[in-house]
Amino acid sequence: MLKEITLRELETADFIKEKVDEIRNAVGDGIAINALSGGVDSSVVTMLGHKALGPRLTTVFIDNGIMRAGEASQVKDLFQKLGVEVKVINAQKEFFTALGGIKDPEQKREAITQTFYRNVFGRIVKESGARFLLQGTILTDIDETVAGIKRQHNVFEQLGIDPQEAFGYRILEPLVQLRKDGVRKVGKALGLPSEIFGRIPFPGPALSARVIGEATPERIETVRKATVVVERILKETRAFQYMGILHEDRVTGIRDGKRDFGQQIEIRCWESVDARTAAPTRLSFEILEQLAREIIRDVPGVVSVTYNIATKPPSTIEAV
Ligand code: XMP
Repeated sequence: MLKEITLRELETADFIKEKVDEIRNAVGDGIAINALSGGVDSSVVTMLGHKALGPRLTTVFIDNGIMRAGEASQVKDLFQKLGVEVKVINAQKEFFTALGGIKDPEQKREAITQTFYRNVFGRIVKESGARFLLQGTILTDIDETVAGIKRQHNVFEQLGIDPQEAFGYRILEPLVQLRKDGVRKVGKALGLPSEIFGRIPFPGPALSARVIGEATPERIETVRKATVVVERILKETRAFQYMGILHEDRVTGIRDGKRDFGQQIEIRCWESVDARTAAPTRLSFEILEQLAREIIRDVPGVVSVTYNIATKPPSTIEAV
């Protein structure tokens, strides 16, 4: 049973020292590898691993084709400033091939998991000679997976899967006793800039979790464009998390005086402390109108914009 370290109990200096020692002891004089997405969890793990292993940690950014606009170069540049070299690996084709034809949420997650850990990472790890993968699983990921709510893409041992056997490498998870608030505190103590440790959470399955139905390159591009608008406008709210979701159902609309059987974007904006429960932010009608106006202006094919007002539970934060 994993023991939670609450925000109040967390002493960042002790925590960092303990985790750095654990990583050093586990890896010995070998090498480790980690995938950085630029999210809070993987960024904190990158800094811990870098502190523990220096150049014996290889950090890669897997460009899976389902990340947000400009993300690969932003993450690479930012970490370069922090002294961490990030290798960008283009695996777009592999991910879209694996996602082809799949509509079911859990099957989508499974396709991403297998492509990531078995195909892409399996290959990179083999080529690099690393025997360890460092990753930023947090306690909430494990809770929800074990409870059978959502299969988080990065949880194995708690589901009885041995990564050594399944993929050929060991996984180290230094953040597994923390929740998001604790991870942010550690990130700040590690010297990460606030644009990283204060960043809104973004799920491992990336924009494919924001597309209901099949995640084709075209549909991902639609939700990517909507995400640019939503993140720009809702940044000011300082809400816990906000997102655009592309629906599968189409609705009749009018564009340029003609009938347009168009697409729908749902917006969610959440107040939450640790993602276990959440409530919608009371956005002003002016902001809602601005969101609708700019999404319809900037995202081709969209004729309807809605705002979700349900709480978690019974909703979850992501739609898929
Ligand atoms: P849900 O949708 O389960 O989300 O209420 C709770 C928090 O977890 C994030 N999330 C994920 N993070 N892998 C991750 O690393 C995943 O598969 C995943 N699914 C959801 C979500 O964005 C929210 O902050």
